[in-house]
Amino acid sequence: MSKQLTVHVARQDNPDSPPYRSSYRIAYEPGLNVTTVLQRIAAGPITTDGEKTTPVAYDSCCLEEVCGACTMRINGRVRQACTALVDNLLDEEPEITLEPMTKFPVIRDLLVDRSRVFAALETVKAWAPVDGYFDRGPGPRASQPQQEAAYPLSRCMSCGCCLEACPQYNDHEAFIGPHAVSQAILFNTIPAGKPLADQRLDVLVSHQGIAACGNAQNCVKVCPKEIPLTDSIAKAGRAATAYSIRRWLGR
Ligand code: SF4
Ligand code: SF4
Ligand code: FES
Repeated sequence: MSKQLTVHVARQDNPDSPPYRSSYRIAYEPGLNVTTVLQRIAAGPITTDGEKTTPVAYDSCCLEEVCGACTMRINGRVRQACTALVDNLLDEEPEITLEPMTKFPVIRDLLVDRSRVFAALETVKAWAPVDGYFDRGPGPRASQPQQEAAYPLSRCMSCGCCLEACPQYNDHEAFIGPHAVSQAILFNTIPAGKPLADQRLDVLVSHQGIAACGNAQNCVKVCPKEIPLTDSIAKAGRAATAYSIRRWLGR
């Protein structure tokens, strides 16, 4: 008989209903990733107890760890389903456990509402402003050192892993989160982002900003893009202090 893989899935029918668990068994194949596992379950969503269920709801888009949509907890660790290879997840038992992230409201099953991730990017104005849609020639150029500082930060895909891991990020604190702190530093680094630099610093010095970070450094450990979040947080702390002094001096 071919090897079987048991998949335990945390399920929830809608945002207000209670969570429950279902287990499924699928045929193991070398090279499966977790998104494929979910597709196999969808093709025959019958639990190990023989109960016919609906397919498990989850999000996905790029299938190459670029969009962040498929982020979930896999064997207790937050990561992307599309790049989680089953062969690297199995211990002695051929079992995996899939759960939604805990810091975001569940819409259904493994699908969560990550709106707060994007709202924080709006709060820090994580963009280069345009002052019109007519051609005014090339914008300001970033120097080589500015490009080298900015590039690693630009790889953020707003997946939410750092927020899931951060003890300061929860539904009773207003902290914007490490991803937004890092994006504020990115756009304050490049010349095209400078016109909004003070507005970003206003957020960083506010109760939503850098003071809320407890420096636990969980965020940097889970970022799939290896973004130097603690460097960004340190830079944000220095920039916030300098900005507060500048404001106090009325400059
Ligand atoms: S350093 Fe710690 S408290 Fe600060 S953002 Fe990262 S995980 Fe959160
Ligand atoms: S900083 Fe890293 S972990 Fe956080 S949202 Fe961006 S890519 Fe994801
Ligand atoms: S589907 Fe885009 S990161 Fe997994």
